[in-house]
Amino acid sequence: MTKMDIGAHPPTRATAEDAARLARDLYGLVVRACPLTSEYDDNFRLEAADGTARILKVMHPMREPGFVDMQCAALMAVAARDAELPVPSVIPDRNGRPWSTAAVGDGRPRVVWMLSYLEGRPIAGLRPVTAELLEELGTALARLDLALDGFGHPSAGRELKWDFARAGWVRGHLDLLRDPRRRALVEGVLARYDAEAVPALPRLRRSVVYADANEHNVLVRVEPGRPPRLAGLIDFGDMIETVTVAEVAVAAAYAAFGAADPLAAVLPLVAGYHRRLPLVEEELAVLEPLILTRLAVSVVNSACRAAAEPADPYLTISEAPAWGALEAFEKVPPRFAHYAFRAACGLAPAPHGPAVTDWLRGSAGSFAQVLERDLRRDPVLVLDLSVGSRTLGADPAGLETPRLAETIARTMREAGAVVGVGRYDEARTIYATGAFAAGGSPVAERRTVHLGVDLSVPPGSPVRAPLDGTVHAVADNAAPKDYGPLVILRHAIPSGEEFFTLYGHLDGVSVAGLEPGAAVRAGQAFAAVGAPPANGDWWPHVHVQVVLDLLGLDEDFPGVAAAGRRALWTGLCPDPNLILGIPEERFPRPERAKSETLAARRKALGRNLSVSYREPLKIVRGWMQHLYDETGRAYLDAYNNVPLVGHSHPRVVRAVQEQAALLNTNTRYLHDNLVRYAERLAALMPAPLRVVYVLNSASEANELALRLARTRTGREDVIVLESAYHGHTTGLIDISPYKFDGPGGRGRKPWVHVAPLPDDFRGPFRRGDPEAGRKYAAAVGRLASEARGGPAAFIAETLPSVAGQIVLPPGYLAEAYRHVRAAGGVCIADEVQVGFGRLGTRFWGFETQAVVPDVVVLGKPIGNGFPLAAVVTTEEIAASFDNGMEFFSTFGGNPVACAAGLAVLDVMEEERLQERALRVGGHFIAGLMRLAGRHPLVGDVRGSGLFLGLELVRDRRTLEPAAAEAAYVVERLRESGVLAGTDGPFHNVIKIRPPLCFSEDDADIVVAALDGILSEDPVRKD
Ligand SMILES: Cc1ncc(COP(=O)(O)O)c(C=O)c1O
Repeated sequence: MTKMDIGAHPPTRATAEDAARLARDLYGLVVRACPLTSEYDDNFRLEAADGTARILKVMHPMREPGFVDMQCAALMAVAARDAELPVPSVIPDRNGRPWSTAAVGDGRPRVVWMLSYLEGRPIAGLRPVTAELLEELGTALARLDLALDGFGHPSAGRELKWDFARAGWVRGHLDLLRDPRRRALVEGVLARYDAEAVPALPRLRRSVVYADANEHNVLVRVEPGRPPRLAGLIDFGDMIETVTVAEVAVAAAYAAFGAADPLAAVLPLVAGYHRRLPLVEEELAVLEPLILTRLAVSVVNSACRAAAEPADPYLTISEAPAWGALEAFEKVPPRFAHYAFRAACGLAPAPHGPAVTDWLRGSAGSFAQVLERDLRRDPVLVLDLSVGSRTLGADPAGLETPRLAETIARTMREAGAVVGVGRYDEARTIYATGAFAAGGSPVAERRTVHLGVDLSVPPGSPVRAPLDGTVHAVADNAAPKDYGPLVILRHAIPSGEEFFTLYGHLDGVSVAGLEPGAAVRAGQAFAAVGAPPANGDWWPHVHVQVVLDLLGLDEDFPGVAAAGRRALWTGLCPDPNLILGIPEERFPRPERAKSETLAARRKALGRNLSVSYREPLKIVRGWMQHLYDETGRAYLDAYNNVPLVGHSHPRVVRAVQEQAALLNTNTRYLHDNLVRYAERLAALMPAPLRVVYVLNSASEANELALRLARTRTGREDVIVLESAYHGHTTGLIDISPYKFDGPGGRGRKPWVHVAPLPDDFRGPFRRGDPEAGRKYAAAVGRLASEARGGPAAFIAETLPSVAGQIVLPPGYLAEAYRHVRAAGGVCIADEVQVGFGRLGTRFWGFETQAVVPDVVVLGKPIGNGFPLAAVVTTEEIAASFDNGMEFFSTFGGNPVACAAGLAVLDVMEEERLQERALRVGGHFIAGLMRLAGRHPLVGDVRGSGLFLGLELVRDRRTLEPAAAEAAYVVERLRESGVLAGTDGPFHNVIKIRPPLCFSEDDADIVVAALDGILSEDPVRKD
C-alpha cells in the first residue's frame, strides 16, 4: 500500500505568504492568498485586486512532476476539445509553462501550478440532489470522457489504490472490518468482483478517465428559488488509464452515498452519461459489481486509515455513507440493478428478453387457451379499471371487493361478456393496502401499474397452461390484496432462454397437489379460479403474468409496479397477450399519454389558457381532498377552493345526476329548485339582503353586480382595490388592476379608481396599528369624492385573495363602506373566494368585518364545481334594476345547478364544515407559525380557517419578496404530493385553500412537506 499512498509523509506546509510570493514571482500576479483544506498538497485561493480568483497548487514534495504534468495536459486537451465543459483551466506561468518547481518551506523543491477558480459549492450535503442534477453530472462526465478520448500520458498508468484492476488489495485488510456482517458484505462484493468484473475488464474499452466525481469534487450552483445546477468538476489527481466505464462506476458509488434507494440516485446519472457517450451492454453488465467494488475499496481504505491514524476523524468521513450505500444495494434483488441500468439506457431490461418476446410473437396463435373460453372468439369485454375509470368512479368504497366484484359482474352482464379482461400496463387505484405504498405517506408514489392481464370468470373455472412447462413455485400469499394461491410455471424457448408464467388468485384446493418440478403440458388444466376472500380477497379472476426473470423473488415477484419504474417492470414482464391472443380490436383505444394531451391542448386551445407546474399534471380522478393523476399518484389538494365539500362529494354528485336525469331547463318555467335555493341563500344573509339572482359563473355575477349598481345610481365610476381580480369578461378586466395593469393589460380606464391594498404586512400601515383600517379606508373616501359625479360602486373581496390572501385590518370595510355610501355609491362584496364557511369564524367574509354590503357576489365553491353563481341584494336595488329591461341568463338558475347548490348547503350543515374549517384551520395555522419560527424565509402567516397565506420574503426587514423561492416551494410541494399555488402582486404568497373536508393529519402533511422544502438549499436562509 505504501507505494500507492503518499499520505504517510506529511510535508512542511506552504504558507499564504509563500503562495502570494510564488504568484508574484512565477506568474506576475499581485494577489491575496487564502489556504484551502486539502489532504496532501497545499492549495490556495488567490484573489487579485480586480476580484479574479485563481487556485495555486503547491504540491507535496513527494509528488512526481509527471503527476501534475498529466493533469495539465489533460485539462488543456479538454479545453481544446470542449471549451464549454466546466472544468478548471490551466494558467501558464510568466514563461508559458503549465507548471514549474520552486523551493518552498523546508527548501525541498515542490511543483507549483495554477488553475482558474470555478465558482460553486460542493455537492456534499446539498439538499435536494435532484435526478436532473445527477443526469447533468452524468452528461458532464460523458463530455469529459469524450474530450479525453485518445488522450495519453505516462503518469496515467501509475499505480493507484482506486484502480479497478487492483481492487484485490483490500482482501489483505478485511480483518480490520470488525463487524462480521459487514465483513461478509464486503467479501460478497469481492466474490462478485472476481466472478463478474475481473473476467470482463480486459474486454472493455479503455481510456484515461477522471474517476473522481466525489461529493467534494462535484461543484454545484445554488441560486435562490432555482433547482441546483452543475457548476463544475475539480481535482483531476485521480486520473488514470482504465476501463472507461470506471468513470460512471466511481460517480455512481458517490451518488449512492447515503441514499435509501441507491438506484434512484444512480439511474439518472447513468442515463445522462449514456445519452452523450453510449455505454455498451458489456459495460452495463459490470457496472453494478464495479460500483460495489468501489464502495468496498472505500470502506476498507477508511478502515486502514483509521487503524493507521486513529485520532483523525476526517480520514474516515466517507465511511458511514459508503456503508449505507453498500447495505442499500444489498437489498436490491439480484440482477435488478443491471436491468435497471439497461432500461435507463433504452435497452430491453433483461438481455434475453428480446429473444423470448420475439419467439412469443412468432408463435402467436399456437398457444393453448388459458380458459375454457376462447378469448379470440367468445364475447370478451375489456374492462376499464384505470385510475380515471368511469365504470369504477371516484369513491374508494367502490374499489373494495364486494362492490368492485358487483360492478365488474354487472358491467360484464350488461355487455353480454363471458370473460372480463383487466388490462396489462394499466395504472389503477384499486391497490389500497399498505403493501402497495412506498412509505407511510398517503401522497408518496405507490405501486399502481398492473403487470399482468386479469381474466374475470366465475370461481372454479379451470386455468390451463398455455404452453409446456414445469411447476416452478406454488404458494399461498394470503395477505389481503396479495396473490392468494398462486402458481409459477417455468418455460423455455427452443433456443434455450427461460421465462415464467405466473397465475394469481387461484383456488387453493385446486393447486394443493402441484409440486415444484412437475411437468405441465400445454392445455393442461392445472388450477382453478379462486373466490374471495381466500384468493387474496379480490373479485374472482385469474391474474396472468409473463416474467422474464424472477430476480430470485419467486412468489413475492410483484404483479404491480410503481409508475416511476414503469419501463423497467413492463420490460421484465411483457404483455401476457402475446400468449393469450386477445385480438387488438377488442381493446378500446388507449387514453392519450400526458404529453399527447398537452400537445393537443396547445393545438386546439388558446395558448394563454394557463397550465400549472413546469411538468403539468394530468388529473383524472378526484375524491374529497385528494386528486389523482393518470398514474394513480395521489395529491393532497391544498389549493382548490371550488370543491368546497370535497372532490366528487357523493351527495352533490347524486343530486346533479338525479336532476340531470329528470329535467334541465331554463327559468322561464316555474321550478321549485330555483325558489328553494334562493330562499336558502337569502336565509344565510343578513337583512336587508333578500333578493337573489342565480347565474353560471362569478364573472357573470360580478357583471350583474355592476349593472345593479349602475342602474341604481345612474353613474359609471367604480372604486376597486389594487391587485384585485373580479373576472374575465371585458367589463371585469376593466375593474381588475391585476389584469389591466398586468401583462397584456391595457391600463386603467378613466372611470376606474384604484384604492391602495389594505395590506397590514407590507403596506404603509402595519398590523398592530389600531387605526390601520381607518387609515387605509381614508383613500377610498378620497377616491369617492374624486369620482366624476360620484361612484356607482365600490367593489372589493372581503379578504383579498388574488392580492395575496390578505386579511383586511379591523374596521376597514366599515369605514370604506361609510365613505362610499356617503358619496351615494353601492358597496359590492365579492365573496367568490372566501364565502361559504371557509373562514371558520363566519359563514361570509363581510361578517368578519361586521358590515352588510348592498350586493354580495357568490361563485366558485357555491356548486362544488358545478357551474353556478349568485348575486344577493336588497329589495331596493332589485327594484331599481327592474326598469323594463328583461333579465334572463339561459343556464342561470337551471334545476340541475340549483340541485348542486342545495346539496352543497346540505353537506355544509350536515358535516358541520364551517366548524371543521375553524378547527383544522387553527391547527394548520399553528403548524405554519412553527415554520415561521424556524425558517426566516417565512415573513408572514395569515388567514382564517382554511383560507391561508404564507408570505415569503428574502429579508424580514426590507420585506424583499421571495417570488422565485415561492415558485420553487410550490413546485417541490407538488413533487412531495401536495398542491398549492402562489399569488399576490409579487407572486410570493403561498396560497392554501383546500376543500373543507381537510383534516388535521392533512395539515400536518403540508406543514411537514413545507418544513423539508424550506430547509433545502435553494430557499434556505441561515
Ligand atoms: C375574487 C374573484 N371574483 C371573481 C372571479 C371570477 O370567477 P369565474 O372565473 O368563476 O367567472 C374570480 C376568479 O378567480 C375571483 O377570484
